[in-house]
Amino acid sequence: MTQSTLAPGLVLRDPALLEMRCFVNGSFVGEGMDPVNNPANGLVLGHVPDFGAAEATQAVEAAQQAFHPWAALTAKERSAILRRWFDLIIDAREDLALILTSEQGKPLSEARGEVDYGAAFVEFYAEEAKRISGETLPSHRSDGRILVLRQPVGVVAAITPWNFPIAMITRKVAPALAAGCTVVAKPAPETPLCALALSVLAKRAGFPDGVFNVITGDAVEIGGIFTSHPAIRVVSFTGSTEVGKLLMRQSASTLKRVALELGGNAPVLVFDDADIESAVAGALASKFRNTGQTCVCANRIYVQSKIYDAFVERFTAAAAQLKIGDGTIDGMQLGPLINERAVQKVERHLSDAVDKGGRIITGGKRHRLGGTFFEATVVINAHSEMAMAREETFGPVAPIFRFESESEAIAAANATTSGLAAYVFTRDVGRVFRVSEALEYGMVGVNSGLISTELAPFGGVKESGNSREGSHHGIEEFVDKKYVFVGGL
Ligand code: SIN
Repeated sequence: MTQSTLAPGLVLRDPALLEMRCFVNGSFVGEGMDPVNNPANGLVLGHVPDFGAAEATQAVEAAQQAFHPWAALTAKERSAILRRWFDLIIDAREDLALILTSEQGKPLSEARGEVDYGAAFVEFYAEEAKRISGETLPSHRSDGRILVLRQPVGVVAAITPWNFPIAMITRKVAPALAAGCTVVAKPAPETPLCALALSVLAKRAGFPDGVFNVITGDAVEIGGIFTSHPAIRVVSFTGSTEVGKLLMRQSASTLKRVALELGGNAPVLVFDDADIESAVAGALASKFRNTGQTCVCANRIYVQSKIYDAFVERFTAAAAQLKIGDGTIDGMQLGPLINERAVQKVERHLSDAVDKGGRIITGGKRHRLGGTFFEATVVINAHSEMAMAREETFGPVAPIFRFESESEAIAAANATTSGLAAYVFTRDVGRVFRVSEALEYGMVGVNSGLISTELAPFGGVKESGNSREGSHHGIEEFVDKKYVFVGGL
C-alpha cells in the first residue's frame, strides 16, 4: 500500500519508500487512519495506522522472540547488516530528504544534511559493533579470574521526536542493534514517514524478522505498553521534559532503564574579545537551524556590553536576509513551524517579551506566506523575567541580552533547570576553559554554533536528560555488565 508521489511534481525515484503501514515482525501491516500533513501547505501526505496497546504488545513480543537469535550472531554478522542499511540509506538520500522535507518542513539542504547525519550513526555503530569489549580484572583469589562481559540488555523501546525524523531514529536504533538488542520504535505522529522509509530499507538490508519494528498510533497506549511490558528493558526517549518525567514515573514499577534526551534552553555567550564575524555566524547557525526547532538551538544570546551594538546590528541584518518558504524550493533557509501550536507559543513569548520591555527589531509576526511560516525575529533589551529566558521558545526568535562580566554571564547561563547545550565565543584561551568548566551543561560549543556529530556524546544534565547518544558512549545504555567469577583454576 504505497503511493508514488508526495505532491504533484514531487515524484520519488523509489516509490516503495513512501510506506504508510507499520513494520512488525518483518511485515508491513495496518490500515491508514491517522493523517500526516505537509506543514508547508497543510496538504495530507497520507494516512498511517492508529495502533494501540494490542498491536504494541504484538510488536514487543515479536522483538522479544527475535532477541536471542539476533544477540547470538557474531558482532561481525550484525555489523555487516548495519553496514548494508547505511549503504541503502545513502543510496536513497534524495528520496529520504524529499520525504523528510515534505512531512517536517525543513529546507531540502538541511534535510539532505540530516540524512547524512542520520546515516552516520548507522555507519559508526556498524563499526562499533565489533568493539563492544569486556574486561578481565585482578582477582581476589589466585585460583580464580574475574571477567566482565558486556551483554545486550534485551528489547529496547525508542520514542522519537518530529524535529529530526531520521537522525533521532538512527541515533537510538543503530547502537541498540549493534549491541545485540532488538527494537520497537514509535516515531512522532507528525513525522512517521521517514521512520517507515527507514524500515523499508532495513528490510532490504536483511535484518531478521522482529529485530527492528516501527509502529505508529496512540501515544498513551503505546507508551503504556513500552513502560510496563516486562520484555522491554530500556525506554529511550527524545522529546519534552514533561513527557520524559512521565515515562520515567511509568517505568518505575518494572525498573526499566530510561534514557532521556529532553528539552534545552541553550545560552550563547559572546565575549568582548570574540571574533565578531564568527560569533554572528555561529549564533545564527545555532539559532535558525531547523527554523529554531532543535533542542540545542540558541535560546538566549548574551553579548558583552562593548560589542553589544555591533553584534546586534550584524546579527539582525543577517537574520533579516534569511529566505523563508517551502523547503522543497531551492535556496530556502527557513521552513514552516511544525504546527499552529508551535506558532502560538512563539507569539506568546513575543507578546510577553514586549510587555516586559523587549523591543522587536526585525520580524515579530507570522510570515506573509501564511500557514505556520514565521518571520526570523530579533528581540533586544531581553532580560531574565521574560518567558523566553526561562522556557525553550522552539522557534525563529533570538532574544539578545547584555552582560558586563564573565561571572554575570555564567550565572545567567546557568539560571535554568535545563542543561543541554551552551555556546561560548571568545579568543581568550583561559576563558575557554574557565567558562566551559563552569557551565552546567552536557555540551559546550566554543567558537562554533553547530556541534552535533555521531563522533561525540550528545546529551544533557539537570532536567535536560540523563544519557548520552553518539560515540562509543552511546552503546552504554544498551549493554549490561555481567560479572563472571571463574574459580578452581
Ligand atoms: C534535537 O534537537 O533533539 C537533536 C539535535 C541534534 O542532534 O543536533
